[in-house]
Amino acid sequence: MTTVLSFGATGNFGRDVPRHLRAVGADLRLRLASSSSEGVAQLRAHHPDAEVVHADLLDPSSLRRAVAGVHKVFVVTPDFMDEETAMGNLVAAARDAGTVRHLLRLLFVLPGVAYADIPPDLRAMHMPQAQHMDARAVLDASGLPVTYLNVLSWSMRNFIWMTGAMIRDTHRIAIPGERSVPYIDPQDVAEVAARILATDAPAQVGECLDLTGAERLSFSEVARVFSEVLGFAVEYADDPEPLRRRFGPRARVLLDFLRWEHPYADRFPLTDAVERLLGRPPRTLRQWLVDNADAFRAG
Ligand SMILES: NC(=O)c1ccc[n+]([C@@H]2O[C@H](COP(=O)([O-])OP(=O)(O)OC[C@H]3O[C@@H](n4cnc5c(N)ncnc54)[C@H](OP(=O)(O)O)[C@@H]3O)[C@@H](O)[C@H]2O)c1
Repeated sequence: MTTVLSFGATGNFGRDVPRHLRAVGADLRLRLASSSSEGVAQLRAHHPDAEVVHADLLDPSSLRRAVAGVHKVFVVTPDFMDEETAMGNLVAAARDAGTVRHLLRLLFVLPGVAYADIPPDLRAMHMPQAQHMDARAVLDASGLPVTYLNVLSWSMRNFIWMTGAMIRDTHRIAIPGERSVPYIDPQDVAEVAARILATDAPAQVGECLDLTGAERLSFSEVARVFSEVLGFAVEYADDPEPLRRRFGPRARVLLDFLRWEHPYADRFPLTDAVERLLGRPPRTLRQWLVDNADAFRAG
């Protein structure tokens, strides 16, 4: 039986992968990894049918144990990961195991952006664009059978962790630098990952799939969708202060990233990859919001 090791099952893009793997109904053994003891406990509680292991991408011995006997790996890393170390460790563990037939890696690499376009201070802190370029370089050089899921959209769940409280309390979406980008439901990404992982000999080995939502929206248009679905007026404000107040010292990296991304926003393409792979269009922000409206309503 095929064993799939999945990272990130406590996080945004990875959390729905196990559910979609079950829905696909493939004959798979599922091994879920977390780098924290709370994550291990959470995964054990939510996925009693899966094997749960402690594995840290920055700790080679825990990785070797997690990858032993595994045939397929789904790997998603948190923002600001040192990917040369993390992917170097993963490649070494996969080589040691000798059983890995396919590695599926989530990326975020905007087309036409070169490493030199990223200021040295953002590179040094492994800012997402730089970290994913680093990850790809290590995996490309490894010779392992890899498929990249390049998520070229904002995750719709960003509105929960980034602006949820602000929408509830002040009816505003305050993010500096108005821009028009595509939004993707992380469940669509998880479903694409599950479909590929469940396929015996996936056609996508060696490919980089650019996954996007169906439409680009400016923050002002996003605010209109929120107003219509939530039933109260939500305004967009081009203002960094609410994020600064909410995230304190951690706001700096977020604001630096938003400032860096702003002139590149028009590089986000719209692709039909999600529709081709799932046989249906990607879910819209409106559909996602209807399902998640309670996160934005007071009380
Ligand atoms: N947010 C967006 O709009 C967006 C859009 C496109 C691409 N991306 C990219 O997507 C990735 C983030 O995905 P996400 O939103 O799912 O992030 P997330 O919610 O922060 O999840 C990251 C996952 O990584 C795991 N993790 C953290 N440290 C680890 C370690 N040392 N070893 C192994 N696993 C570790 C975490 O699980 P444990 O703590 O349980 O280990 C967690 O489940 C980033 O690389 C980001 O650049 C984001």
